[in-house]
Amino acid sequence: MSIDPLESSRRNFLARSGPALATVAAVKAAFADTLTRYSPAGPAWKTDEGYWGKIRGKFMLEKGLHYLNNGTVGPTATPVYENLLEYWRLMAVNPNENSAPLQARMDPIREKAAHFLGAAPAEIAILRNATEGNNLVAQGIDLKQGDEVLIGYLEHDSHRQPWLVKAKRQGIIVKEVEIHTPPKSPEEILNAFAAAITPRTKVIATTHCDTVTGTFAPIKEIAKLAHDKGLFCFVDGAQVMGMIPVDVHDLGVDTYSTTCHKWLCSPAGTGLLYVRREMQDRIWPNVVTENWWTYKDARKYDRVSRRPWPVVASLEDAMDFQNAIGRPRIEHRIRALSSYLRTQAAEIPHVKLYTSNDPRLSCGMTSLGMDNVGADFMREYLRQRYDVYTAERAVGVRYPADPHGVEGIRISTHIYNTFEQVDLVLQGLRELSSGKAKL
Ligand SMILES: Cc1ncc(COP(=O)(O)O)c(C=O)c1O
Repeated sequence: MSIDPLESSRRNFLARSGPALATVAAVKAAFADTLTRYSPAGPAWKTDEGYWGKIRGKFMLEKGLHYLNNGTVGPTATPVYENLLEYWRLMAVNPNENSAPLQARMDPIREKAAHFLGAAPAEIAILRNATEGNNLVAQGIDLKQGDEVLIGYLEHDSHRQPWLVKAKRQGIIVKEVEIHTPPKSPEEILNAFAAAITPRTKVIATTHCDTVTGTFAPIKEIAKLAHDKGLFCFVDGAQVMGMIPVDVHDLGVDTYSTTCHKWLCSPAGTGLLYVRREMQDRIWPNVVTENWWTYKDARKYDRVSRRPWPVVASLEDAMDFQNAIGRPRIEHRIRALSSYLRTQAAEIPHVKLYTSNDPRLSCGMTSLGMDNVGADFMREYLRQRYDVYTAERAVGVRYPADPHGVEGIRISTHIYNTFEQVDLVLQGLRELSSGKAKL
């Protein structure tokens, strides 16, 4: 096939002029400008569905899909997605030169993330997800044979398996602390950990908000308990960043891992790890490359060579997006929707709530089951009848250690959800409750 020289030079021109027209700095400047004009909230924002409708309009979820599964993965907001595409384009047209300005976003991101989590920038590593952070901590801390690690029994496997691997390799003992589902109070969780401590315990490693029931643990009190006893406190906060404001210094934990592609709605493949400055000499990095030792802070944990820089750069945009709305406002909306769901669901015969409505114990996720239908049917019924998308939480599938039999669905509410969507869930539950629901 012959190539038209004019067409080919035009293509070359377009390819070369592209990056000149849209640099990373230009994309960022345009984005910042968009955010300053972002749906300003009126004084009645709490109940102003028009305001929340505008926020919802910034997401491109499929028409008709009622996505209530942010706890698994969150949707990327349109302006963040558009930047991501632009970053990938820059990489495609001039991979090496355009990598540099994207890679250079690591430090501003570290600073922004530190601000987001209440840490110092030198305490933040930029990783792919919470799993990576949890593994890094478990494998990176030196423990001796016979040392005990206490974990909660509703840990996500990404915070259980790393400790079990360490047990196999190094002979540590991992103990799962049982907590009733749902706990009656934060003290119940604290007391369960306190009671499990023995002279051989060295670590309490638990989740801030568990993935099964969405229950929040009193991390500040657990960290204090750990430190009073001379133990480390490592926390998996995968479900928390972007759901409620977090201040890791105030919590007093030693490490805190989190995922950004859940409640922060950053593109998939973004996570953060906080390592308290004093802990950095005790926790080894897992993946290292040239000059890693020259980094005397948490940057040593993210020396993983070339990365998908567009995805990393988008993490900054996702934080900017949430900051533009306001984090307390986001928490308020999430709570309003979930609290409404829990209050109404509690009135429906056969429904069993696994998530407390006490604001100290819950926020954006609700697990519930029914004693007259199985979890599979509940989830499928809501999906097929109403296009409501939830997560299944069935006993024996992922949490064989659960003695209390959590079996049901998990419903997440975020800022792009509406009360009408929660009403659809409730409508479906009422139909299931009547025993007449058929697919
Ligand atoms: C509590 C908890 N920890 C860790 C993870 C793993 O997160 P990621 O897939 O981002 O590594 C999840 C994911 O659902 C989770 O809910």
